[in-house]
Amino acid sequence: MESATPVIVAIDGPSGTGKSSTSKAVAAQLGLSYLDTGAQYRAITWWMVTNSIDIADPSAIAAVAGKPEIVSGTDPSGPTITVDGVDVAGPIREQDVTSRVSAVSAVPEVRSRITELQRTIAGSAVTGIVVEGRDIGTTVLPDADLKIFLTASPEARAARRSGELKGADLHTTREALIKRDAADSSRKTSPLAKADDAVEVDTTDLTLKQVIECVVTLVEEKRAGR
Ligand code: DC
Repeated sequence: MESATPVIVAIDGPSGTGKSSTSKAVAAQLGLSYLDTGAQYRAITWWMVTNSIDIADPSAIAAVAGKPEIVSGTDPSGPTITVDGVDVAGPIREQDVTSRVSAVSAVPEVRSRITELQRTIAGSAVTGIVVEGRDIGTTVLPDADLKIFLTASPEARAARRSGELKGADLHTTREALIKRDAADSSRKTSPLAKADDAVEVDTTDLTLKQVIECVVTLVEEKRAGR
């Protein structure tokens, strides 16, 4: 019989490493919930943009960080995200949000608010949850049962992202991605980082199917106590 204890899996890494596709598939395959924490940072950024908050002013962001109500649906076959009841799944992927999300997510008041939300969601997952992000293993869920850190070469990451963005220019995508990763890795509050006890998986030369299989095996080994 399968263990009744919820399993908590943290999957971190920079953009374009296949985090979302892998996390969703692993959660679906193992009957776990799924949380995209990047979508939550994008959602709060969307709210700041929509409400004309000055993104260049961290104190202006901090002052309203508690205002928007962000709700994440955690079914891996159809994750949802709303802000004050508005479905923002589409708008949060637009360029005006993507280009501002690093600045908004660097503000400590934003991080503490979203981190609290993430811990509540993870704590209420009945069978367990796969949580993907940048600081899940280091800060949000340091006691996760399994921590994975996905990496890939900048070239592979840019190629995947420009594919997702339907043929966006490779060079521009690569530059934007490197800039965002540098901002996310160098911020003071819980930067993008590999936890000491995380398993690093370089996905550069792996297919998505191979990455999923690798992570599923690691979760199963954990559950079996190996
Ligand atoms: O995974 P993504 O590209 O949708 O994430 C968008 C941004 O959100 C990313 O540039 C950094 C931020 N983020 C974060 O700071 N911490 C997380 N746990 C997840 C995302």
